[in-house]
Amino acid sequence: MSKKLKIVLLGAGNVGFHLGKKLNEVGLAIEQVYSRNISKAKRLAKNIKCEAIQNIKDVSSQADLYILAVPDSAIEKVAADLSKNIPKSKLVVHTSGATPSTVLKPYFKNYGIFYPLQTFSIAREVDFENIPICVDSNLKKHRILLEKLGKQISQNVHQINDRERAILHVAAVFVNNFSNNLFTIGDKITSTENLPFDILKPLMKETVEKITHHSPSEMQTGPAKRGDQTTIELHLKYLEKNFPEFIEIYQTMTRNINSNISKNHS
Ligand SMILES: NC(=O)c1ccc[n+]([C@@H]2O[C@H](COP(=O)([O-])OP(=O)(O)OC[C@H]3O[C@@H](n4cnc5c(N)ncnc54)[C@H](OP(=O)(O)O)[C@@H]3O)[C@@H](O)[C@H]2O)c1
Repeated sequence: MSKKLKIVLLGAGNVGFHLGKKLNEVGLAIEQVYSRNISKAKRLAKNIKCEAIQNIKDVSSQADLYILAVPDSAIEKVAADLSKNIPKSKLVVHTSGATPSTVLKPYFKNYGIFYPLQTFSIAREVDFENIPICVDSNLKKHRILLEKLGKQISQNVHQINDRERAILHVAAVFVNNFSNNLFTIGDKITSTENLPFDILKPLMKETVEKITHHSPSEMQTGPAKRGDQTTIELHLKYLEKNFPEFIEIYQTMTRNINSNISKNHS
C-alpha cells in the first residue's frame, strides 16, 4: 500500500478490540474508535493511542476506510447514521459472516467485507497470522485494497463473495458455536455430578487435532457409530433421570451420526 491508509473503527467489542489492536500493531493509522459506550471505545483507544468517540456525528470524514465491527442487527442502522456524516464515496466495510455486503449499498457507493473467520473474545489473545480473512467489495480495486490490507495481518486471505461467505458462516456455526455448546453440556454434566471437567480436555483436544489430519466423518467413533443400542439406551435412561433437557440433542446427534454412516455405506 503506497499511502498510509487512515482507518476509523466503529465498534470496540470482541472483533473491534482485536482487529484494532492488530491493525495498529502492523503500523496502520487508526484515527478513531467509536462505541456508544465510551468506556469500550476508551479501552481500545488507550491500547492503540487514538481518539475514542461515542457520538457518530464526531466521526472524521478524512479517513480512507471505515470498518463496522458492530452486531449484525446494528450494521444497517450504523451505516445509515454514518452516511449522514461522511461522503457517500467513502469505502465502508463490515466484519460479519452472515450479513450481505449489500446492506451497505443504499448508503455508500463503495462497500465491502473484511470478515475474520475466527471466534473472538476480548479476554482471549488471538494470533492473526493464520486467521482466514475473507474480503469482498463491489469494486475490483477495493477488493485488491482489502486483500492487501488483510495480508498485512494474516497469511490466510481470501476473496469470498456474499453467497460463499453466508455458506461458510453456516458451516462455522456448526464447527464452532455448536461444538462449543456441546462442550458446555459436558461441563454442566460433570460439574453437576462433582466430576472434574478437566478430565475430558485431552479428549476434546484430540477430537480437533485428529480432524486437522483426517476427514471428520472418518474419525467418528462412539456408540452411535458402532450401532451400540444397549449403550445408547443406558445413556438415554441416565439423561431422562438427570438431564432431560439434553435428551433431544443426544437423539438428534445420534440420528445424524447414524444417517451419515448409512450414506457412507450405500
Ligand atoms: N465475536 C466473534 O467471534 C466474531 C467473529 C467474526 C465476525 N464477527 C462479527 O463482527 C461483528 C461484531 O461482533 P462482536 O462479537 O465484536 O460484537 P460485540 O462484542 O457485541 O461488539 C459490538 C460493538 O458494537 C457496539 N454496538 C452494539 N450495538 C450497537 C448499536 N445498536 N449501534 C451502534 N453500536 C453498537 C458495541 O458497543 P456499544 O454497546 O458501546 O455501542 C461494541 O462496541 C458482528 O457482525 C459479528 O457477526 C464476530
